[in-house]
Amino acid sequence: MSVDLRTRVDAAQVPVEAGPFFRDTLPPLFDAHQAAIAPGARELRLRDFCIETDGEPWTLSWQGDRVAVKPGHQGAARVRLDAQQLGDLANDQSTPIALMSNRLLDMPEGGLPDFLNWWLVLRAALDGRRIHARGDVTFDREIRRRFTPDDSDEEMRAFLEEVGYLHIAGLFSEAEMAAIEADYPRAAPHFEKGDPRAWFATTRDGVEHLVRMEGFDRYSPATVQLLDDPRLQRIGRIPGAGHVARREPGARAGALVKPIGVVQGISDVPWHKDCSLGRHSYECCSLTVGISVTGADAESGQLRVVPGSHRALVWPAPCVQPGLDLEPVDLPTRTGDVTVHLSCTLHMSQPPVRSTRKVLYTGFGQRPADPAAAEANRRRLQAVRSRTHTSISQEPGYLGES
Ligand SMILES: [Fe+2]
Repeated sequence: MSVDLRTRVDAAQVPVEAGPFFRDTLPPLFDAHQAAIAPGARELRLRDFCIETDGEPWTLSWQGDRVAVKPGHQGAARVRLDAQQLGDLANDQSTPIALMSNRLLDMPEGGLPDFLNWWLVLRAALDGRRIHARGDVTFDREIRRRFTPDDSDEEMRAFLEEVGYLHIAGLFSEAEMAAIEADYPRAAPHFEKGDPRAWFATTRDGVEHLVRMEGFDRYSPATVQLLDDPRLQRIGRIPGAGHVARREPGARAGALVKPIGVVQGISDVPWHKDCSLGRHSYECCSLTVGISVTGADAESGQLRVVPGSHRALVWPAPCVQPGLDLEPVDLPTRTGDVTVHLSCTLHMSQPPVRSTRKVLYTGFGQRPADPAAAEANRRRLQAVRSRTHTSISQEPGYLGES
C-alpha cells in the first residue's frame, strides 16, 4: 500500500467540451466503472443533477443502479459552470469545494451536498476510483498510536500507509521550541495586512490578530535550522515514495497562532482533505508536518484526523460526509511533538477555548512528472485561490502545500 496515489500528469490534460463530454465520453465511463460506482452511490442521496455549461444543460440521474445522462434540465439540483470550470472539474484541477471557496459556486437549485455526491460519481468514472461504501476501509492495527523518535521508519511507514497520520512525540526539545517561539514577535512586523503571506483573524473583543505567517523561515534562523535538521528531513523518507521538501527558501514554513474566540477570518479550519480544492490525482499524497511550538489538546487547538480517510473517496470538505463509517481521533500534543498527515487524510483543528496555540507547518511533496506543466496549472489555480482567505470566513482546504 503506497501513499503515492497519483494517476494523472498535467501535460496529458485533454480539453473538455460540454456536448461531446456528456454525450460521448461520460456514458461509457459510467458503464465501465459501474462496479466502482454502485455500492457507494447506493448510500448517497443522488437527486437528479443538471450541469449547465455556458447555458448548455445536461442532466445526470441515478436510475436502477446506473447513471443516465440526458440533454436538457430535468434536475432537482443544478449548477451553472463555464467551459473552463467544467474542464477543470473533469480534469481534477478543481472541485465543488474550490468553486465554493472562491465564491464561484452558482447553484440556482439544490445545494453543495448534491454537487459533492455527484462529484464522487464523476471522480469514480473519470479516475476509475471506487466510491467509498460502508465497510470498505478496515484496519489491521490499533489506529491510535504515538510514536517516539526511536521507533523505526518501517513501523511508521506501515502505520502511515494504513492509517494516514503519524504522531511522533518529543522529536524536538522544549529549548528548541522556545527559540522558535522567540522568533514570532521578531517576524511579525514583516507581515502586514494585504500581504497574501499574512493571515489575520478578529476575536470577539474586536481585536485583530496576525494568525498565520507564511514564509516564517525568512525571518527565523532557528526555523531554518530545524527544517534542515536530520530529525525533520527523516520524515520525508518515511513513506519511501520519493517525497522531498519542495518549498523554496523563504517559503518553507508557516507559523500559526491560534487565538481564543475568533469570530472573523481563518484561524481554525473545519474538516477537509488538503486536496479538497483539486489536483488529488496529480499530487497526492503530500505530507503535512505540524511542529508543536506549544502543546495542544481539546481546549487549546489540537489537530483531529479521520484514520483511513485517505483510502476513501468521500466528500473532501467541508465536513465529515454524513453517514461516514470512519471515526475521528484527537491528536493532543506536547511542546516539541510532531504530527504528520497525508494530504488525503481528513483533518481539522479544534478552536482553542482555554489557551492559545502556536504551531509551525511545513511539508514534503512528490516530484511531478512534468514540473513545468504542473507549475503552470498550480499558478493558474493559485491566482484564484490566493484570494480565498480574505474572501471567506472559514477556509476548507489549506492552500500552500506543495
Ligand atoms: Fe489542511
